[in-house]
Amino acid sequence: MSTLTDELIDVETRALEELGRVADVDALEQWRVTYQGRRHGRLPNLLERLPALPVEERREAGRQANRVRSALESAYTERRAALERAHVTQRLSAEAIDVTLPGRRAHSGGLHPTTRTLREIIEAFRPMGFRVVEGPEVEWDYYNFEALNIPADHPARDQWDTLWLDSEDDEGKRPLLLRTHTSPMQVRVMEAQQPPVRVLVPGRVFRHEATDASHESVFFQVEGLAVDRGVTFADLKGTLYTFARRMFGPDRRVRFRCDFFPFVEPGVDMAIDCFGCRGAGCRTCGQSGWLEIMGAGMVHPGVLKRVGYDPDIYTGFAFGMGPERIAMLRHGIDDIRHFYANDLGFLEQF
Ligand code: DAH
Repeated sequence: MSTLTDELIDVETRALEELGRVADVDALEQWRVTYQGRRHGRLPNLLERLPALPVEERREAGRQANRVRSALESAYTERRAALERAHVTQRLSAEAIDVTLPGRRAHSGGLHPTTRTLREIIEAFRPMGFRVVEGPEVEWDYYNFEALNIPADHPARDQWDTLWLDSEDDEGKRPLLLRTHTSPMQVRVMEAQQPPVRVLVPGRVFRHEATDASHESVFFQVEGLAVDRGVTFADLKGTLYTFARRMFGPDRRVRFRCDFFPFVEPGVDMAIDCFGCRGAGCRTCGQSGWLEIMGAGMVHPGVLKRVGYDPDIYTGFAFGMGPERIAMLRHGIDDIRHFYANDLGFLEQF
């Protein structure tokens, strides 16, 4: 019959042998429970028999037991450390990044040419004290037309055909429409405040029309309005001169010619000398040497009266321009429809 000492050595041999085959932490835990587990582990089972041995045998067996226990413990600790190291190495190689691979270029977006132009226009006027406001794209007939001296039967309405919307409650202001220009904001701003007024209104406008190279049904405008005591046509000219030179270069020449807009009196169209040919005549300016860039004029007394301003005390000027047209002239863009066709080949040039 084998002694307890023999059995201890036998368990040690098997345990160490098996430990050598343990390949991962789960198997290691299994091993620990099998040999060292407090309740049914093989080693603790043997140790339970120690106290019952005769003294002589117990002394020898006790020594062996201590040796085997610490041998298993240190073998276990070592194995565990080795497995953990292997695990880390494995993860590192699995998650390795090849830092020598060339990167993928991040696609950075840019500002739309209309947005850029709007911002430049705003920056040109800002030092002259114009603040920026925006208004509704769906507008009352009243603000878009009536309050601007364009009653229902006025022929000027032909120039501003638009889309009409059903409206439940018209507040006495007649039907709703998609605004055809930013000029209605002149009226809204003046209704909401007393002079002095100095505002710039960028925004989207709508026209019901057949599109072609110079006509879109959705585009932008920038409106300007300045009202105070003693504002004259000289202020209009000075302000717009300053704008033109900031925007298009310091030696720009400017031309004003009479034009008609129902809400101004007198009305003008403003042109700058063509930057393609410097006034000599070319394709861009249609051989005229001039580029028309905006409409302007002195605010009509009827408009002032309608918002409750006394035209004998207050006068003002207004102007309106299209940023797409300005961008087209500057960059030699030949078709306004490029702007909103979502063609990246076009847009990425800006
Ligand atoms: N609202 C006009 C249009 O859409 C442009 C315009 C002309 C605006 C003269 C003005 C102005 O403020 O004074 O054609």
